[in-house]
Amino acid sequence: MLTENLPRVPIAHLPTPLEEMPRLSEALGGPRLLVKRDDQTGLATGGNKARKLEFLLADALEKQADTIITAGAVQSNHARQTAAAAAKFGLRCCLVLSGQSPSRWTGNLLLDELLGAEIRWAGERDRAQMMEEVAEEMMRLGRRPYIIPVGGSNPVGTAGYVMAMLELVAQLEVRDLQLDRVIFPTGSGGTQAGLMVGAKALGFAGRIEGVSVSATQDVLEARLEELVAETAASLGLDLSFADEDFIVHDDYLGEGYARMGPPEREAIRLAARTEGLLVGPVYTGRALAGLIDLIRRGIFGPDETVLFWHTGGTPALFAYADELLC
Ligand SMILES: Cc1ncc(COP(=O)(O)O)c(C=O)c1O
Repeated sequence: MLTENLPRVPIAHLPTPLEEMPRLSEALGGPRLLVKRDDQTGLATGGNKARKLEFLLADALEKQADTIITAGAVQSNHARQTAAAAAKFGLRCCLVLSGQSPSRWTGNLLLDELLGAEIRWAGERDRAQMMEEVAEEMMRLGRRPYIIPVGGSNPVGTAGYVMAMLELVAQLEVRDLQLDRVIFPTGSGGTQAGLMVGAKALGFAGRIEGVSVSATQDVLEARLEELVAETAASLGLDLSFADEDFIVHDDYLGEGYARMGPPEREAIRLAARTEGLLVGPVYTGRALAGLIDLIRRGIFGPDETVLFWHTGGTPALFAYADELLC
C-alpha cells in the first residue's frame, strides 16, 4: 500500500519499537509520552536515514550506479548511514562534508572512516555544486555516480517516511491507541514531508509537528510544501494540504545549527536519567528540548498523548563531550 510499487531494498530493522516514557512524563508533569525508536533502525547505529536509504539505494542500484555521493555537516548522521548502506551493497561512497578536517576524528566522522567512505572537505564551498563536480570527475574515471541530496530529502527518500507512518498507524491500531501529536526534529524536511503525506493518505488525526534545528518556519514550510506535493505526485496520490497542516516550531534554534546550549544539555540528561534513553546533541536533543518547553508552557496539555519520534543521532554525542560536561 502507498509505496508498494517502488523499488526498495531491505536495510532497516522494522518495525521500530513504540515505547511508553512514563518517568519522563512524570518528571515533566506532562502528557502521556511515547517514543518511536528510529534510533534503533539498525544501520551502523541507527537513525532516520535507514528508512530513506531503502528507497534511495534501490533507485541507485536500478540505475546501475557504482558510487554514491552525498553531503552533510562534519557530524552528519545522514552521511554515516549513507556510507554504511553503500558498504552493505558493495558500492563506493564519497562524502562531501562542510568545513575542514578536524584534528580529531570522532563520533560520526570516525564511523564514516571505518565504513570506508572517501571524504572530501568542502570548506566554505557550496556542497551541492561540489557534489556535481565530484560526480563529473568520477564519470571521467569511468565510474557511475549517484547523487543523494543532503538529508536524502527528495521524493524517493521521503517515501521512507510515508511507509513509517503506515507502520506507526498499524502499531497504534494493535494497541488501540490514539495520538494527539507527533513531535520530531526537522532539518532538510524529508522526515516531516513523508509523515505528512502518510498521515493525510491514511486519515491519521494527530498533529505532525516538526521542531526545526536550523531553518526558520517560513523557509522550512516553503520547502515542505514543495516536498509533500512532489512526494504525493510520485506515489500517484491526490492529496491536498491546508496551511494548518504545516507545523514547524522554530523557537529552538538557539545559537544555530549544531550549537549546543543549556536546553539541549538538559533534555539529553533528562531523557537519559528518567528513561535510560539517549538522544543526540544536534537533532533529537534539540527536538526534545522543544517538546519539554512546549509542555512547561502548557501548550501540550496533561490529557494529551504525545509521540516523540526519535530519529537517532546518538553517535554525535561523543563529538560533544566537552560541551556536555561543561
Ligand atoms: C538524527 C536526525 N534526526 C533528524 C534529522 C532531520 O531529518 P530530515 O532531514 O528528514 O528533516 C536528521 C537529518 O540528518 C538527523 O540526522
